[in-house]
Amino acid sequence: MRKYFFFVLAFLLVTGAYGTAFSDVSNGERIFRKYCAKCHGDDGSVSEFGRSIEPHAARDLRTSRFFIAPSELLTIIKYGVYGRGMKGWENVLADKEILDVAEFVRTLKYVPNVEAGKKFFEARCATCHDSKGAGKKLFKAPDLDMSPLGEIEMARAVRFGRHGTMMSPKGELFKNPDLADVIAYLQTIKK
Ligand code: HEC
Ligand code: HEC
Repeated sequence: MRKYFFFVLAFLLVTGAYGTAFSDVSNGERIFRKYCAKCHGDDGSVSEFGRSIEPHAARDLRTSRFFIAPSELLTIIKYGVYGRGMKGWENVLADKEILDVAEFVRTLKYVPNVEAGKKFFEARCATCHDSKGAGKKLFKAPDLDMSPLGEIEMARAVRFGRHGTMMSPKGELFKNPDLADVIAYLQTIKK
């Protein structure tokens, strides 16, 4: 079954059909309201209940479009996140329903605030990276204005850190919208 799921997924990604012909966003929205809104909120910005989950609150899903590649999103929904309040939905939702709800999640919108991202960067990141994004050479932090990374790759480095370096994971420390703001800012300073 699992093999089949990934086969179908690969096919949909390759043909570019993912998100268009096969998934049904309005069905996804219905599923989202039924199963996900309790924690993530109707608009994905996290419900009061979701915020209260200890020690790891539910995450804002409006940023998923920037942070999570389509295939990764399906995997998270299907199998959940180890040790967190996010269970896997494979026993509740059919693969087609997972495609639909993922597609709906990708329609949620967060508009990053670049100005807020700049301030956040100066306050939280400039210890190692220069305030303008240049490398301070402290702990070998690189020039971020020269970074070749796009949003999703940058989000990965910021959220999950880099093994064996001083770039520790920031996903636990900050909320997704703050990270979306700082990543949007970093995308604007690229040379
Ligand atoms: C009981 C509460 C709860 C329900 C219901 C729930 N989630 Fe979650 N979800 C969480 C928590 C808590 C996390 C944070 C996991 C972590 O800390 O990495 C999360 C994380 C996620 C993430 C990863 C977000 C990120 O930025 O890393 C996605 C995607 C997601 N949920 C989608 C869904 C979908 C789709 C549904 C419905 C099918 C759903 N969730 C239902 C609690 C819930
Ligand atoms: C303690 C020092 C330190 C802090 C604080 C820090 N970083 Fe880093 N960062 C690093 C180092 C060192 C690397 C290089 C990792 C490597 O060698 O792959 C890095 C790499 C990165 C990269 C990957 C760049 C690329 O092109 O590969 C991004 C993006 C990034 N940091 C963003 C941030 C953001 C955003 C913050 C603030 C939320 C932050 N960093 C805070 C030290 C730091």
